Amino acid sequence: MATHSITLTVNGSLEQIEVPSNLTLLQLLREKLALTGTKNGCMAGECGACTVILDGEAANSCMVLAVECEGAEVLTVEGLAQAGVLDPIQEALIEEGGVQCGFCTPGILMSAHALLERNPHPTEADIREALVGNLCRCTGYLRIVEGIQKASKKMAHSSGGGVS
Ligand code: FES
Ligand code: FES
Repeated sequence: MATHSITLTVNGSLEQIEVPSNLTLLQLLREKLALTGTKNGCMAGECGACTVILDGEAANSCMVLAVECEGAEVLTVEGLAQAGVLDPIQEALIEEGGVQCGFCTPGILMSAHALLERNPHPTEADIREALVGNLCRCTGYLRIVEGIQKASKKMAHSSGGGVS
């Protein structure tokens, strides 16, 4: 199997890694960088457990080859908390009871992060649409949706945009 040297930024750190042609971004994160917060649910683009932010967009990392990530910026769930302080979406999901077994949670957090970056004030329909590729078997989604709505308010408040 041919290998390739790639350089990419993961959670703000520049990484240069030798990867085989068939390695996925999910495998690179979990097996080469020990970033196991990104989950492997199906390896088939069906469950969303492996969602990361790739160049600003939510992406299923099991469906992207590592070699395609030359020069890319990747954000994983490990990159959300800063200096030990949870990101507002993490905080709000916990407060609203949107985490049960937690297997889907990293992917949900990354999809929600991408949504709130492009639309800081999403409607319930916007949130449900953003989560359409993230399967959760435990929560029934209501508390996740409420958590993301709460995170949107927290973020508006902390950026001085007022609380609706
Ligand atoms: S592991 Fe990637 S979509 Fe399920
Ligand atoms: S909390 Fe268990 S799958 Fe979502």
